[in-house]
Amino acid sequence: MTKASFRLENTWRPLANDPAGALDFTLINLSDAPIRDFKLAYTTLTRVKEPGVFDNAVLLKRNANFHQFAPPAGFVLEPGAAWRFSVASLWRRARHRTDGAKSAYVTLADGSHHDAAVIDCQIEGLPSELAPALLPAGEAKQPFALLPWPVKVDLSAGDLIPVALYPVSGTGLEDLRAVDDVLSLHYRLFADAPAPFVFATVEGGRPIRFARREELAPEAFEIAFSREEIVLSSAGKAGRQYALTALAHLLHGAKSDPKMFRFPASGQIADSPRYAWRGCHLDVSRQFFPTADVERLIDILAWFRLNTFHWHLSDDEAWRLEIKAFPELTTVGALRGPDEPLLPQLGNGAKPVGGFYTQEEARAVVAHAASLCVEVVPEIDIPGHSTAMLAALPDLADGQEAPESYRSVQGYPNNALNPAIEATYDVLGKVFDEMVTIFTAPVIHVGGDEVADNTWMASPLARSLMDKHGLDGTFGLQSFFMKRIQEMLKARGRRLAGWDEVSHGGGVTPEGTLLMAWRAPEVGIQLAKEGYDVVMTPGQAYYLDMVQDEAWQEPGASWAGTVPPKHTYTFEAAGEFPEELKPRLKGVQACIWAENFISRDYFNHLVFPRLPAIAEAAWTPRDNKDWLRFAAIVRLSPRL
Ligand code: ACM
Repeated sequence: MTKASFRLENTWRPLANDPAGALDFTLINLSDAPIRDFKLAYTTLTRVKEPGVFDNAVLLKRNANFHQFAPPAGFVLEPGAAWRFSVASLWRRARHRTDGAKSAYVTLADGSHHDAAVIDCQIEGLPSELAPALLPAGEAKQPFALLPWPVKVDLSAGDLIPVALYPVSGTGLEDLRAVDDVLSLHYRLFADAPAPFVFATVEGGRPIRFARREELAPEAFEIAFSREEIVLSSAGKAGRQYALTALAHLLHGAKSDPKMFRFPASGQIADSPRYAWRGCHLDVSRQFFPTADVERLIDILAWFRLNTFHWHLSDDEAWRLEIKAFPELTTVGALRGPDEPLLPQLGNGAKPVGGFYTQEEARAVVAHAASLCVEVVPEIDIPGHSTAMLAALPDLADGQEAPESYRSVQGYPNNALNPAIEATYDVLGKVFDEMVTIFTAPVIHVGGDEVADNTWMASPLARSLMDKHGLDGTFGLQSFFMKRIQEMLKARGRRLAGWDEVSHGGGVTPEGTLLMAWRAPEVGIQLAKEGYDVVMTPGQAYYLDMVQDEAWQEPGASWAGTVPPKHTYTFEAAGEFPEELKPRLKGVQACIWAENFISRDYFNHLVFPRLPAIAEAAWTPRDNKDWLRFAAIVRLSPRL
């Protein structure tokens, strides 16, 4: 990595007359040469509200989180000197260290771009302490490291920790392969830990005998422990894998922390999940996660018996899935850079940054997930959140629509696919044709969130579609669009999944449609009343990019509030659901939105322990949840 010749520092300061305050910037020239006629760009979620109020700088360009400034005319920045300027009229105040510039670069008079190093936002005139510990020490009243905790558990702790567990001789090939799968999973997650399973009989180990019990539900299992053997009962692949995972947890805990955890000498576990949909979403648009990271996250899901990976493959910031019919989607639509159609955002600097999944890679991810009983649900986020798609396929816009006729909540102008343009459906049809050859899940997620209020109202084509079909405004158009998408998916043998706003403006046919309630828990109940199947993903509890404490030094977003791990753990998705609507509540899901995930450290800090907290909420009955037990066990979690 080359050393940056510039450094940009930023500090948030309160203002008497504006609760959003101001950001003060200092650009330091660490190069050997004076610079003049230069520009400075930075990316920040604390955007300026145009026209903006600036001191000692002129705003040249803004696109969502991208901001570009020039110093006053004639200004020369000498080596070792600093340019200071301020930006007020922010759309909301900075609350946490991650609310300032995430990246910056300088463009010199010759057009060349040079990174400026940044550190997180500082704060002036207010405390900037670290958050207190987010997890208590915890207490495992029963000395067993099981996460999620079972429905029924009646175990006596043994004095000896088995050396390893091994299949009894004569075990069938499928059962042996299941042991191999969980042994490999454990090895990938904890390469430095002792192996929980071996294949050869080992002195001091304990044999496992597999029993097939057809009457058990597919994800259910039972384990009976005695000094002589362990009998593992299941109806098939999922239950068997979960039972082996539970055994691996028990042994891993007993070996990693023998003061706290033991291995059972005798007794039983009888277990099955609370919810059918136990999900985790990953936004790979705002930040790209290479296939190896995606597969490791899926490993982590499997370790906690989550069964659904929701892959958020497109958004304003990038389109990440190879579509052979439209290579532009990943040549143009996945690349952000100073001279690209998509500008740097959310941590990008002078160098263009791309990344996408080839179809072969996506198929490998699906196969990897399937081998661990995890289903991959792909999402392309339409009709809103489509800046990247429109940058790649500009003909999908109505040429008569004014350029900045509406903006999304993230600040993107004109970012929605136009329901009145027939080519939109032709393109999406080809995209779905290819997606169904990659993804095997019965649903395809098509987003549907955050279409801004006045979207398409300046599009003559959309206006005439409204007249023709008697559609009522933006959401009448959205419903028209989504109904067609639903039919297109049906024709390809798939059902529609989306975010909760799919129901707006008349929605789609609820039968077989699954919507994710993200804006608030009450939304889920309303969707169920309307006849939709519901997965609860409320930002206030299950968005893992939210900060975990109010302290300035805690990283993350805060628009949905502060979400301490205890709140995520104790939150009850079924809370206010009327009894008669409960069958519509299919499950719960963690969402990993990536705007703030500019380092691996931030990923791990924000995702753990809250992802395992959601895994336990997804599996364990309400009365068996125990925050202190969870806190004691969750320390053993793997990290990305
Ligand atoms: C969302 O958070 N816009 C689904």
